[in-house]
Amino acid sequence: MRTVGKLLLEALRARPLPHWLAAVYLSLRWQAFVSLDTRIYYPFRVRIGRGSRLIGRVTLIANGAIEIGRGVELYEGCFIQCQGGTVHIGDRSALGPYVIVYGGGDVLIGRTCSIATHTTIVSTTHEFGDPTQPIRNQGSTGKKVVISDDVWLGAHAVVLAGSHVGEGSIVAAGAVVRENVSAFAVVGGVPARLLRERPKET
Ligand SMILES: CC(C)(COP(=O)(O)OP(=O)(O)OC[C@H]1O[C@@H](n2cnc3c(N)ncnc32)[C@H](O)[C@@H]1OP(=O)(O)O)[C@@H](O)C(=O)NCCC(=O)NCCS
Repeated sequence: MRTVGKLLLEALRARPLPHWLAAVYLSLRWQAFVSLDTRIYYPFRVRIGRGSRLIGRVTLIANGAIEIGRGVELYEGCFIQCQGGTVHIGDRSALGPYVIVYGGGDVLIGRTCSIATHTTIVSTTHEFGDPTQPIRNQGSTGKKVVISDDVWLGAHAVVLAGSHVGEGSIVAAGAVVRENVSAFAVVGGVPARLLRERPKET
């Protein structure tokens, strides 16, 4: 026999939740702080580690899956859209104000990463081979983006589909990354090139 709780859960799943209710649900379910201003679509596809904080008007469009680790901080204006893919954010990472993540090709962000304000991480790219058709009608391809542990992405950085940013590396403010960044490298510019390497010992 179905319990009242199960029926209630089914009813909730069948229709979109008001955003404030989704925020309350996620706060209680995952023992995290989810601001009532947060805009959450598909809340049942969001997992949040204990002690994480979604501060201010964060938008999560989890039409795929969003996995947020423990002690993660997402600040005002962060916008994460899965586009059918998975966006994973590792423990104790922080995404500053107005960071945008498009997850159509999957985005994996490691632990203790600092992603500064207005950074954009894109894991899809438009097809544009047919000049007779609008680019918008030609579909898009997803390529996974990996940001390894302890990476610092400076303000206004852009990380494009298929990029792999190595552990401990730094991407300078305003850089555009479109391929691999070696571990402990400091890269900058458009497209991003090696500026120097971080010392591996103190
Ligand atoms: C990348 C960064 C950390 C480098 O710091 P640094 O090692 O002290 O760098 P320096 O100022 O000594 O510059 C080293 C070289 O990198 C270049 N460089 C520095 N920042 C750059 C940038 N954003 N884009 C392109 N080149 C840059 C410098 O011109 C210099 O080149 P040169 O040797 O040919 O003269 C820093 O410039 C940066 O971009 N920080 C991000 C700050 C930020 O976004 N904070 C947000 C809040 S977390």
